[in-house]
Amino acid sequence: MGGKEEDRDPEMAESSDEEIAEASADPAPVKSLTAPDGGVWFVLEKASLEVAKVGKNYQLLNCDDHANFLRKHKRDPAQYRPDILHQALLAILDSPMNKAGKLKGLYVHTEKNVLIQINPHIRIPRTFKRFCGLMVQLLQKLVIRATNGPDKLMKVVKQPVTRHLPIGARRIGMSYSAPKVVQLKDYILTTKEDTPLVFVVGAMSHGKIEVDYIDDLVAVSAYPLSAMWAIARICNALETQWNIV
Ligand SMILES: C[S@@+](CC[C@H](N)C(=O)[O-])C[C@H]1O[C@@H](n2cnc3c(N)ncnc32)[C@H](O)[C@@H]1O
Repeated sequence: MGGKEEDRDPEMAESSDEEIAEASADPAPVKSLTAPDGGVWFVLEKASLEVAKVGKNYQLLNCDDHANFLRKHKRDPAQYRPDILHQALLAILDSPMNKAGKLKGLYVHTEKNVLIQINPHIRIPRTFKRFCGLMVQLLQKLVIRATNGPDKLMKVVKQPVTRHLPIGARRIGMSYSAPKVVQLKDYILTTKEDTPLVFVVGAMSHGKIEVDYIDDLVAVSAYPLSAMWAIARICNALETQWNIV
């Protein structure tokens, strides 16, 4: 737990013919002195990430720019919401919890069944247009390397996601329609302090996460939240628990 990225998943250390992308790595995060060893992993499920040739270019399909194209191909534009994934990634990666070095793993599982490993040190483009450009590159080349160093920042990896998750972790699924609503800061106290925590959050607009690898399914509010807000609740609770200010 808490080793280098290569220690946790040898796939991140493989070399391949990767494309250099417009992404860069932040400097290694400062470790929180008060944080115990554990750490947190996120899996974002049912993410809408699909590339198609629209006109002359390959583009990331989204409901705003490609509504006519999608209808023409008998698809429901409302299902094409990569903006939800963009917001969710920014919420996780920008969190004080990540800056404190507590984010140990981040995976995106797409609606089209592609599994992507994201390096917690990535600085994701802040504008949606540039995010789309980066994701098109990733889905075509299968890897994105930093412009300012040797790090692999995003990579398509083998499934299932469970082979990338730490042994002995508590895997918690998040859903508004879960049978129990919990106060997350109290709920995480029921887990031993150094147990790795895996949170599974939906990155889609409708429906709920349907996975068979979680230990528990909880709601963290009595209201339906955006993925970004559900993630904010998780980050806040963990930052309080780990005394990250
Ligand atoms: C926009 S919602 C998806 C819509 C779906 N109807 C739902 O609430 O599950 C995106 C994700 O945020 C999380 N989420 C939303 N509201 C939540 C709540 N009250 N408690 C826990 N997770 C929630 C879930 O993981 C959900 O898949």
